[in-house]
Amino acid sequence: MNIQDNSRYHEVHARSLADPEAFWADAAREIDWIEPAKKIFDPSMGAYGRWFAGAVVNTCYNALDRHVAGGRADQVALIHDSPLTNTISKFTYAEMLKEVQTLAAVMADFGVAKGDCVILYMPLVPEAVFAMLACARIGAVHSVVFGGFAAKELATRIEDAKPKLIFSASCGIEPGRIVQYKPLLDEAINLSSVKPQACVILQRPQHLCELTAGRDHDWAALRRAALDAGKAAPCTPVLATDPLYILYTSGTTGIPKGVVRDNGGHLVALKWSMFNLYGVKPGEVWWCGSDIGWVVGHSYIVYGPLIHGATSIMYEGKPIGTPDAGAFWRVISEHKAVALFTAPTAFRAIRKEDPDGAFIRKYDLSKFRTLFLAGERADPPTVEWAVAQLKVPVIDHWWQTETGWCIAGNPVGLGMLPVKHGSPTVPMPGYQVDVVDEASKQVAPGTMGSIVIKLPMPPGCLPTLWQQDQRFREAYLTEFPGYYKTSDAGYKDEDGYVWVMGRTDDIINVAGHRLSTGGMEEILASHADVAECAVLGIKDAIKGEVPCGFLVLKAGVTRAPAEIEKEIVALVREKLGPVAAFKLAITVGRLPKTRSGKILRGTIKKIADGESWTMPATIEDPKVLDEIGDALKGRL
Ligand code: COA
Ligand code: AMP
Repeated sequence: MNIQDNSRYHEVHARSLADPEAFWADAAREIDWIEPAKKIFDPSMGAYGRWFAGAVVNTCYNALDRHVAGGRADQVALIHDSPLTNTISKFTYAEMLKEVQTLAAVMADFGVAKGDCVILYMPLVPEAVFAMLACARIGAVHSVVFGGFAAKELATRIEDAKPKLIFSASCGIEPGRIVQYKPLLDEAINLSSVKPQACVILQRPQHLCELTAGRDHDWAALRRAALDAGKAAPCTPVLATDPLYILYTSGTTGIPKGVVRDNGGHLVALKWSMFNLYGVKPGEVWWCGSDIGWVVGHSYIVYGPLIHGATSIMYEGKPIGTPDAGAFWRVISEHKAVALFTAPTAFRAIRKEDPDGAFIRKYDLSKFRTLFLAGERADPPTVEWAVAQLKVPVIDHWWQTETGWCIAGNPVGLGMLPVKHGSPTVPMPGYQVDVVDEASKQVAPGTMGSIVIKLPMPPGCLPTLWQQDQRFREAYLTEFPGYYKTSDAGYKDEDGYVWVMGRTDDIINVAGHRLSTGGMEEILASHADVAECAVLGIKDAIKGEVPCGFLVLKAGVTRAPAEIEKEIVALVREKLGPVAAFKLAITVGRLPKTRSGKILRGTIKKIADGESWTMPATIEDPKVLDEIGDALKGRL
């Protein structure tokens, strides 16, 4: 099929690759710079060059101050809609600026200055957004840790980022339970050899915690005192190439990778994306239903919409059960959102509860124009259901924590291209996406291979890993010279559409959350009774994938396997966190291996998923696969 369309996409994308500097210099006009770039792209800097070298800017200024000065002071910037606490609160751009200036002054009083790290371990509350922007305002580097991670994960991040200050809260709220943050925070600080100078704790009325004397400070009291004293921190000029934040993401080991985001490239890319990709105009209401602990939340709950001058909805709730499968439609109609960005898993959950879309028809969705999906492959049945029910375009788009914004999508603002269900459509400007074989040679259309991005990547993508330049090169730039390795496999079709079919490493996607099975195996292996283990992602109707652990017990262990399996499930929850959704541990006599000792994870996965499989030629003992099949019976 030859795609014929009236979209400006082809011209825009071709221009971005033919003359990237002219393209991004043009896009950069949408940003208020303190000093312009000396070089739009400097190939001599960093691992593959840096964007907007020498430019001076402030991200918070671009997200708040300039809108207040430019006529949006009274426009709502942030709507916090929380069915979990039964509250809705709204903040105008002027009110947000006041909060952020005040909090930034509080931070400065703690001695936090440009270049210092600050960790946020926070639920989805407006104060978390204020804290991110306050960091940006004074040039501090924030690192948000998702609230569903356990103390040990937080400890690893504290150890690596070495924060001067930690922002946290007394609790998060999940359906039917209060998640107490303070014990997790205390344990994490205890486990880490690095200690923050201070913690600022937001007391939520749903649960008050005790503050640790000498270390913890009450957020509200600090805010009140700073307001009474008329304190307000100005914006600190930073280089476009200075870090704005670190976001840790799963690597192939238990040690997460600290993805670095800079200020200048991030501003330019996100601003470009808000209209050209998402079709949203300044002043419109936009909703990204993610968590600030993930990259999607960083880019599209906080920075993208605010830099653009839109109104952003922050939703503390679930797609179902808070209170029902109509929750998303209630939010869209109540706040007149023009677009929603969420993960396919949320739609699978809604579809299961409300297959005929009865809830959808209860609400006025007349303002709603587009649904965007990302975080995992958007399976065609879910997309087709969403299209049929909502009667708006449903757009799958593909990106990673590392890139910070979309690699391949369907640009609504430039004019949509025809949709092919199962494909996130085409590369965005600045991205030359190729599919290559092991020798880095491009493969023919329709042929599966490794998906890579030709260097340099566009503005907004990671320049390096936090204080690990070498690990960055080895993990991303070495295997395919001249390219960034996405670790996703797939193909391009004859129309240039990208098809992303799965990871080439041990990363799995559980309800849109990125997790490392290698990291989970490290936890399983730490159990005293476990001799060997393998964790793999198996199909799940709602979450896409869930982890499943196979255990071989040490010789001489006489305890009941069921008891050990229960301990293992609890151990993963304790060490990694509930978000891993690790509920299935299965004891087996042996693990299937090749003659060279490699565990045949792919074959086990096929058996567990009920797919057809062939006996691997290199298998050491074919009988082990029958044993795996037997062990799985009645467990899935
Ligand atoms: N703090 C503490 N615990 C958390 C948490 C947080 N911020 N977020 C999730 N959890 C817990 C949940 O309570 C759940 O615990 P449980 O095992 O006691 O039930 C566990 O982690 C798994 O959470 P989740 O994967 O969210 O599953 P769920 O059953 O609660 O909800 C969905 C399923 C589909 C509704 C949910 O996964 C969802 O909304 N996903 C959207 C995906 C998303 O936002 N992705 C981000 C990238 S776009
Ligand atoms: P994260 O870094 O958490 O955003 O996860 C990135 C990974 O999620 C990618 O490398 C893909 O494996 C997967 N992913 C994200 N979006 C999509 C998509 N639209 N289609 C297929 N896979 C996706």
